Amino acid sequence: MMINRKYLLGLDIGTSGTKTVLFDFDGTAAASETVEYPLYQPQNGWAEQNPDDWWNAAVSGVRAVIAKAGCMGADIAAVGLSGQMHGLVMLDKNGRVLRPSIIWCDQRTQAECEELNSVVGERRMIEITANPPMTGFTASKILWVRNNEPDIYDRCAHILLPKDYIRYKLTNEFATEVSDASGMQLMDVVNRCWSKELLGKINIDESLLPRMHESQDVTGGISAEAAAITGLKSGTIVVGGAGDNPAAAVGTGIVSAGSAFTTIGSSAVVYAVSDTPTIDMQGRVHTLCASVPGKWTVMSCTQGAGISLKWLRDTCCAEEIVQAGREGVDPYVIMDKIAAGVTPGADRLLFLPYLMGERSPHPDPDCRGVFFGLSARHTRANLIRAVMEGVAFSQRECVDVFRDMGVPIERMTVCGGGGRSPLWRQMLADLYGCPVSSLRADEGGALGAAILAGVGAGAYASLGEACAAVVRPDVTAVPDEAAARAYEPYFEMYKRLYVRLRDEFKALAHM
Ligand code: XUL
Repeated sequence: MMINRKYLLGLDIGTSGTKTVLFDFDGTAAASETVEYPLYQPQNGWAEQNPDDWWNAAVSGVRAVIAKAGCMGADIAAVGLSGQMHGLVMLDKNGRVLRPSIIWCDQRTQAECEELNSVVGERRMIEITANPPMTGFTASKILWVRNNEPDIYDRCAHILLPKDYIRYKLTNEFATEVSDASGMQLMDVVNRCWSKELLGKINIDESLLPRMHESQDVTGGISAEAAAITGLKSGTIVVGGAGDNPAAAVGTGIVSAGSAFTTIGSSAVVYAVSDTPTIDMQGRVHTLCASVPGKWTVMSCTQGAGISLKWLRDTCCAEEIVQAGREGVDPYVIMDKIAAGVTPGADRLLFLPYLMGERSPHPDPDCRGVFFGLSARHTRANLIRAVMEGVAFSQRECVDVFRDMGVPIERMTVCGGGGRSPLWRQMLADLYGCPVSSLRADEGGALGAAILAGVGAGAYASLGEACAAVVRPDVTAVPDEAAARAYEPYFEMYKRLYVRLRDEFKALAHM
């Protein structure tokens, strides 16, 4: 089969859009298409998307890459899926979507997190799921629907994660895999299976949940209906794939203990692989199953990373958008350039990136974004620089937790949209105090999903072999001592600001 099939297909169901990429077996992108869709925020702290927007984006993406590469569905050996983690998709018995998906950065479920702790027990919750209850994770979202929309809960026959909904539409299979499913907070994370004990205690019927696989396992084949709509060949295998961060880990070659990466997309994540589950009892970082059999991960999540810069672009940077249009570049390229003209510390302006509440290292649904130190002297350049620094400070705060836990961070790979910014890469190197490298093929989650598809299809003997064949480093930023010294007092103040404002955030949330 591998002899006459040329490509692997990776789909990454992101928050700002779905990226579909067709790769050669050496990891070169032959064609790529991104289709965007909206994020709905019906209330402060809520975040929802329409699963059929993801499906329509996937269909247009697949059709577009097949057309751009001038190939046939039959040239594709296997399909891999990656996607935003933790989102709740509920379907009725006919497979119809029951309500908009409550996605990863939604913060409405504090009461349900308390319910989980009181029903299961705080300690037992961590022993089973490897994490304290999180508003971002799926279990509390399921309880929220049961508590607030009982009619919908009663009609729910299937619970899926975002990329697993796309799998269902492609293959008619209800299936998931360990890396994404461990972020649902319904799994026994040590034993990599649904926890019967937990499901029993919170009274969720296991038949609502999809079948569990490892990330590289084949989960089904493209159905005749999906083949007709997408142009894929019926029967083409679809592997488990992974959540977007564990997929990006594969796409950046982070598949064994001792290596780590940072991704700056809508969220920002620091991710390291471990041989055993390593748990932070304070919940400052998450412990999940890795997309590599027999491995786990320690992972932080800053909720508002790219989301913060996008918010600034859309609310304040109309001029940069127009200039970008004139020069035929992305507005972020212009924003990056003007922010590079401001010195570290943004001329005494700090930004706390809590637009969507926060998870790491402060699990807090009530905190919100802050500009601290605004002066009439400041321009948009200062605002942009402060936002980028605030996101970078948050990554450093998370890396300090990893180091505290004994997880070594001696060099870092960076990916995601933010990884393309030379300024952001340099900030991370200065703040981490270690080299930060980007990759030549910066397709993150889509590449990881395609590599997993290649392993499932037998094109590579193992994930390690696949990464060695496919992942190629590009430029490396090394720490600049003077900049690192200049950031230090700002970073210390950044950390103090959250502590000093914590109670005020709570008061504001209850006004
Ligand atoms: C990770 C997380 C985010 C989403 C965004 O825990 O919630 O990184 O996966 O895509």
